[in-house]
Amino acid sequence: MNISLVSPKSKTEVQDAYNFVKNILKFSEDHPRSLDFYLNIFQKDPRYVVIAKDGNEVIGAVLSSDDSEEKLLIGELAVDEKYRKAGVGTKLIQQLEENAIELGKNEISLGSQGPAENFYLKMGYTPRLFIQLTGNNRINEIKNNIPDKVVWENTGDGFSKIIVDTNGIDKELQKYISEKTGAHTQYLFSKRIVV
Ligand SMILES: CC(C)(COP(=O)(O)OP(=O)(O)OC[C@H]1O[C@@H](n2cnc3c(N)ncnc32)[C@H](O)[C@@H]1OP(=O)(O)O)[C@@H](O)C(=O)NCCC(=O)NCCS
Repeated sequence: MNISLVSPKSKTEVQDAYNFVKNILKFSEDHPRSLDFYLNIFQKDPRYVVIAKDGNEVIGAVLSSDDSEEKLLIGELAVDEKYRKAGVGTKLIQQLEENAIELGKNEISLGSQGPAENFYLKMGYTPRLFIQLTGNNRINEIKNNIPDKVVWENTGDGFSKIIVDTNGIDKELQKYISEKTGAHTQYLFSKRIVV
């Protein structure tokens, strides 16, 4: 194994990284970020993308964009199954964090489902539970079922959404909320990268 980390030098390398994560993550039809989206980002700055290679072969990649001027949003992260649990994901995130600092960011955020949640916990990211119900003015329906601290809420665009500080990953609470209210739920992760 001869693993190296690079940012793309050409549009073809962006395309290779995009197709790599797309194959592993099996994007659904409504996936929010297209190849064109990342080609535009690449033209702005290649450091938003980090690729892990073994020789010339892509074995992992992370793609990001601006969440805001000061916040970087990780869109997609994937490592080839054969190379998992060997530190490649850690290296990709560490390199992206360094790039983010160079890009003037002070925070990284992302949404995650399933097993990758534990990975982000290990990487020092803080989870918060995002809960979304269809329909305006339903915030209280969610709040009434939640013991934890609501840190953000919003309604008026056809949805009622809140973010809860769950103090760690609380799978039972997540399941309870989904079953009780029919809400869509997802853990959002964030990390301050400048002290
Ligand atoms: C999540 C993913 C990128 C991690 O990559 P990786 O190269 O295996 O990660 P690392 O080897 O650097 O692991 C770092 C730590 O996280 C833990 N970890 C990694 N994947 C994990 C998983 N699926 N479940 C639990 N813990 C996990 C490792 O055990 C390791 O902990 P340790 O240092 O105590 O051993 C990889 O599993 C993957 O591509 N998964 C499928 C795609 C995916 O879910 N992407 C994220 C979408 S947001």
